[in-house]
Amino acid sequence: MKIIFIGPPGSGKGTQAKRLAGRFEIPHISTGDMLREAVAAGTPVGQQAASIMAAGQLVPDDLMIRMIDDRLSRPDATKGFILDGFPRTLVQAEKLETIVGNGNGSLRVLQLLVPDDAIVRRITLRRTCAQCGAIYHLENQPPANDSVCDRCGAEVIARPDDTEEAVRKRLESFHRQTMPVATFYKSKSILREVDGIGPVDEVFERIEQSLA
Ligand code: AP5
Repeated sequence: MKIIFIGPPGSGKGTQAKRLAGRFEIPHISTGDMLREAVAAGTPVGQQAASIMAAGQLVPDDLMIRMIDDRLSRPDATKGFILDGFPRTLVQAEKLETIVGNGNGSLRVLQLLVPDDAIVRRITLRRTCAQCGAIYHLENQPPANDSVCDRCGAEVIARPDDTEEAVRKRLESFHRQTMPVATFYKSKSILREVDGIGPVDEVFERIEQSLA
């Protein structure tokens, strides 16, 4: 099973991809998480990406393609994977075809549909575990104990790119640069659109149905 999640920032890609990865026992590969790890570790990639991410812009294609090419060559990705956050441009989508191929019928693309007005509220109230990456929402899915992660006990924080200004830039970039990727997969008849509004469990059920 090779699954690509497409959706605007805050549409629930990470929330749903983590659950689906557990269900199918395949790796959840999030380019956003990989970049945040690189930033935290202070690697050259992280140093290049930090200010771009904080400004709500896209990291250059060549860097992202190298990163995903390396990650997909690891043994755990041979039985399948869930890509969250890649591809985000047509250049990335075309390169992904050469990396994994698309002729064996196992590639499925899920597009989560959430209107822009719901996004800003989701993102500005999101909190993420600095240690294990667990995702919370102060209203819909708060941690049981204030700012402490339910799973690992580390601190739960707001991401630096979750300001309203950066979210609006990320939304603009999604419509301009990533929607053509959805159109690209639609033309290949492998895109499934999933309504991303409603409780997390209900959205997950819709995702499972769309994959059946
Ligand atoms: P990335 O980390 O991929 O960010 P994103 O795409 O903007 O998506 P988010 O992580 O913000 O949201 P999500 O859809 O995962 O939603 P979540 O599940 O957290 O990328 C960050 C940056 O890295 C980019 O801006 C770019 O700079 C760079 N980058 C990454 N990949 C790149 C690439 N390929 N090329 C170039 N640059 C790249 O949910 C959001 C909130 O909503 C949470 O609080 C959650 O609890 C809540 N929620 C989830 N589901 C529901 C629901 N059904 N109802 C109500 N609330 C919900």
